Amino acid sequence: MTEKRQGKVVKVAGPVVQAEGMTGARMYDVVRVGKANLIGEIVELDGDFASIQVYEETSGVGPGELVVDTEEQLSVELGPGLIESIYDGIQRPLEDLYNAEGAFMGRGTEMPSLNRDKKWHFKPTVKDGDKVQPGNIIGEVQETTLLTHKIMVPVGINGTIKNIKEGDFTVVDVIGVVVANGGKETNLQMMQKWPVRTPRPSSRRLSPDKILVTGQRVIDTFFPIAKGGTACVPGPFGTGKTVVQHQLAKWVDADIVVYVGCGERGNEMTDVLTEFPELKDPRSGEPLMKRSVLIANTSNMPVAAREASVYTGITIAEYFRDMGCSVALMADSTSRWAEAMREISTRLEEMPAEEGYPAYLGARIASFYERSGRVETLGSPKREGTLSIIGAVSPPGGDLSDSVVQATLHVVKVFWSLQARLAQQRHFPAIDWLTSYSFYKQYLKDCFEDKDKGIAMDQQIVDAMTLLERESNLLEIVRLVGAEALSPEDRLSLETSKSIREDYLHQNAFHAVDTFTELDKQYEMLKDILYFHQKSLEAIKTGADTADIFKLAVREDIARAKYIPQEELAKISDIRNKIDEQLKGLQTTPTA
Ligand SMILES: Nc1ncnc2c1ncn2[C@@H]1O[C@H](COP(=O)(O)OP(=O)(O)OP(=O)(O)O)[C@@H](O)[C@H]1O
Ligand SMILES: [Mg+2]
Repeated sequence: MTEKRQGKVVKVAGPVVQAEGMTGARMYDVVRVGKANLIGEIVELDGDFASIQVYEETSGVGPGELVVDTEEQLSVELGPGLIESIYDGIQRPLEDLYNAEGAFMGRGTEMPSLNRDKKWHFKPTVKDGDKVQPGNIIGEVQETTLLTHKIMVPVGINGTIKNIKEGDFTVVDVIGVVVANGGKETNLQMMQKWPVRTPRPSSRRLSPDKILVTGQRVIDTFFPIAKGGTACVPGPFGTGKTVVQHQLAKWVDADIVVYVGCGERGNEMTDVLTEFPELKDPRSGEPLMKRSVLIANTSNMPVAAREASVYTGITIAEYFRDMGCSVALMADSTSRWAEAMREISTRLEEMPAEEGYPAYLGARIASFYERSGRVETLGSPKREGTLSIIGAVSPPGGDLSDSVVQATLHVVKVFWSLQARLAQQRHFPAIDWLTSYSFYKQYLKDCFEDKDKGIAMDQQIVDAMTLLERESNLLEIVRLVGAEALSPEDRLSLETSKSIREDYLHQNAFHAVDTFTELDKQYEMLKDILYFHQKSLEAIKTGADTADIFKLAVREDIARAKYIPQEELAKISDIRNKIDEQLKGLQTTPTA
C-alpha cells in the first residue's frame, strides 16, 4: 500500500482542527485525525497548512497527533440498500453504529453505508455487446415493494458491455464489465460513489409543470409546489414547521422521500422513526418506509456532521432522480444547518457578515436549492426525474428579516408563511393565506383541470381567494363601524370566508381521514362551500334573511365534509342537493 500523505495537528478549536505538513492535500479531501481516527474534511488550505472540520467530537485530540489524508472527497455510497436506511450526517448507518458501539457511539468508527454482506437479485436489462454511456440503465433490483432500483452506468464510463450476469450479488460484487473504445476495462458493481458537494449531472432542465400533491388543502389549493420545485416554511417557535414537514414526508405523491432531520430535537426524529414504519402509503397501501431514506443529525450530534448532512441527503436524492423517480427532500431545519456553518466559520476565524453568518451563506443556500429541478436525466433512452426540496427555516423570534430566511426567499419559489397568531388560535396548518405565495401556479393550471373527472378547479381557487382577501377588508370595516353597517351580501361573504378557513383550510394532521385530502376531494369540498355562497346570494336577492341562511342544517354537512373518506366522495357532491333543498325551503316560508 502506498503511504498516505500525513500532517500533524497544531491546534484544536471545537469542531475545527488545524494541521501542518499537509502539502499536496486538496480542498475537501477527507482526512483521519489523531489516535481516535476521527473523520474530517479539509475546508481551508494555506500552503502546507490545512483547516479541517471534524465530524466527531474532538475532545482529547491534541497538538502533535497525526492527520492522514485519505485523498478522497467526502462521498456517499449509492446503490441497493439505501431505502429504509437511517443515516447520520455522513451516511453512517445509525443502527449498525449503535449495534457496534452501543448508545455512546465510538468515535472514528468506519462503517460501510451500504451493507456489504446482503445479496440482492440483479436482473440485467442489457446484454453483452450493447453500447452504454453514463446514466444508461443496465439492470434492476427489486429493492422494496415500492421501489425497483435501477442500476446505472456511473458518470465517466462509456463502452461495450461484457460478461453481464444475472444472479444474487452484494453491492460490491462484479456484475459485468464495460470495455472502452481503447480496450480499457472497467468492472461494474451495483454500488457507485459520488462526492456530496458536487451536484450530480443531468442532460437538460425541464419546466416544472406538474403538481406535487401534498394532500394538505391550503398548500395544494392555494400555494402548490411543482414536482422539481422548491419551497420554504419559515415560522416562529412551535407554529408547526415540523408537522408540515412530517405531513409532506408522509403524504406527498413522490416515489422517494429523503428526510433530513438537521439539528432539531432528538425526540422529533424519534417520532419519525417510530411513526413511519407504521404508516401506510395511501396510494399503494405499503409501509411508507419502503420509499424513504432518513438522515438524522439531531441537536446533540456533532455540528460539522450537521453541515454535511444536507449534502448527504441531497446527493442521495439526486441519485434516485437520475433513475427517473420523483423525489422529495425535506430538511428540518435549514437554520440549524446555517448555524453549523456559522460555528465552523467562526472557528476558522473568517470575517463574519450579517448576524455572524459567513459571507458565503447566501451562496451556499442558493446552491443547495439549485440542486432541485425537473430534469431529463443522463443516459439513453431519456428519462425524466424530479427532485423537490422543502426546507423549514426557524428564525429567532420568527423574524422574517433574518439572514437565513432572506437568503432562502431569494431562491425558493414557494413561501408557506406560518403565523404565531394562527397557531395560537389553533388554526392548523398555521399557513397564512394572505402572505404566502407560490410562483408555480401559472405552470400548474392544467393540474387543476380534469375533464374525465369533471374537475375545473382553477376558477374556484380564484373565487375562494377573492373572498378571503375581501374578508380582511370587511373585518376592518366591522372593527371601525360595527357589523350593522354591512349589507346582507357582505355578511354572507364574511360567513363564507369563515367557512373556507374553518371547514376547508383548517386541517388536522392527527385525524385519520383529515390528515390527507386528494385533489378531487379538495375540489368537491371547495365546490360545496362556493355553491352554498352562490345559491345563498341568489336567495338573498329574492328576499331571504341571512340569519335564516346561516342557521341551515346543511352548513354542518359542509363543515364535516373533510371527515368523509375518499371512497365516499359522492357524499360530498351530494351536499349540493341538500343546499338546494334547504334554501328552497327558506324561500317558500312566508315572511312576516
Ligand atoms: N396540522 C396540524 N394539525 C394539528 N396540530 C398541529 C398541526 N400543525 C401543528 N400542530 C400543533 O402544533 C405543535 C407544534 O408544531 P411543531 O412542532 O411542528 O412546531 P415547530 O414550528 O416545528 O416548532 P419548533 O420551532 O419548536 O421546531 C404540534 O405539536 C401540534 O400540537
Ligand atoms: Mg420543529
